[in-house]
Amino acid sequence: MRVMVIGGGGRESAICRALATARPQPSLLIVPGNPGTAALGTNIALRTGDLDAVVGLAARDKVDLVVVGPEQPLVAGLADHLRALGIRCCGPSARAAQLEGSKIFARELAQRVDAPSPTFRVVAAGDDIAAAVRAFATPPVVKADVLAAGKGVLLPDDFAGCERAVVALLDGRLGIRTTRVVLEERLRGVEASLIYACAGGEAVLLPHARDHKRLGDGDQGPNTGGMGAISPNPAMSATVAHEVRCRIVEPMLAAMVDLGSPFAGFLFVGVMLTAEGPRLLEINVRLGDPEAEAILPRLKPGVFLELCERIATGRLDGMRLEEDSRPVCAVVLAAPGYPEAPHADLPLTIDAGMEHADRWVDHAGTKVANGRLVTAGGRVLVIVGRGADLARARETAYEGVELVRGGLQYRHDIGRI
Ligand code: AMP
Ligand code: GLY
Repeated sequence: MRVMVIGGGGRESAICRALATARPQPSLLIVPGNPGTAALGTNIALRTGDLDAVVGLAARDKVDLVVVGPEQPLVAGLADHLRALGIRCCGPSARAAQLEGSKIFARELAQRVDAPSPTFRVVAAGDDIAAAVRAFATPPVVKADVLAAGKGVLLPDDFAGCERAVVALLDGRLGIRTTRVVLEERLRGVEASLIYACAGGEAVLLPHARDHKRLGDGDQGPNTGGMGAISPNPAMSATVAHEVRCRIVEPMLAAMVDLGSPFAGFLFVGVMLTAEGPRLLEINVRLGDPEAEAILPRLKPGVFLELCERIATGRLDGMRLEEDSRPVCAVVLAAPGYPEAPHADLPLTIDAGMEHADRWVDHAGTKVANGRLVTAGGRVLVIVGRGADLARARETAYEGVELVRGGLQYRHDIGRI
């Protein structure tokens, strides 16, 4: 079987690893991939945004299945183009991908089905921004309506900062073009990432996870794409998972069916576990990063490929997942300067002894230049450890962190808070 994987980050590295556990082993084409995925298949240097080239290659190479990692090509319609040519694709249509492409679309849909959510307001240029911001009891979270690669969410600590953030977003000063901004009640609690394999209104929950979004230890510093993840999430319970399924996931999937845009793909539901119960923080239309690096190793061999195939053919048929009970801890090593201005081209060395049965490295933002491994992105490497319990998984991952040289920054408390 020939499987094409779209993307080149840590998530796609984890996707390739999980696909490669199937027997017979599928042959993998990765667009564009990274130096880590080169060991698992063939990297192809195309831009994932060049839909014509990607679709053309999938057709020419007669791939049996395309698994799309990142959100941008989905929002741009990659899955629709592939399906139009009869190529099976694990990933939602452009219309269904609006759940991530527009924060307002997702919030309004959640409101329509009464999914427990923070209160929100939408503002645009010309509105009374000061009044909108101060309509909240505490300074709200400020979000661009569009895809912004994790940079569109701002969490100012005072009302004046919120106002400045809204104005900066609407003026395009943060490098993001958005005509509308969402203000949300700022929730407090522990975050949980729940990812479901979805097709035809049905949803199968993958092992759950916890991400750590702030750059610094103790959840300090700026918001990032995610500095590390653990699976399972110790704060989740079966009762909470049931509530998220019944009150958020199933009603929203049913509403998408009603809209004529059924969702087929991985639905990422980010929730805040508050004193009043789970509240919807965000919806993404893909696996999380770095959640995938912690979640996928907990699936039994071959199961991920089966899930992707079932999503692509629209038949989950009540599939049940058996999880590996051993916890996994994934620690992100980021380039100096991340998230604002990550330094590129810094040489990296990984000492001997890194990889064994319970530890491996997912490459994220690396490349080979003049025969040397160097940084080529914000999140550079993800060190993944597995253990009999969370403490052992952490220990294994952090011992691996010590084996990387290159001046990368990382959090010391992944899985500890
Ligand atoms: P988003 O891009 O919407 O996923 O938001 C990114 C991150 O910002 C989330 O994972 C949270 O850490 C934080 N965040 C988003 N919305 C809220 C909210 N309403 N209250 C508190 N934190 C939030
Ligand atoms: N880790 C959060 C995300 O993938 O959006």
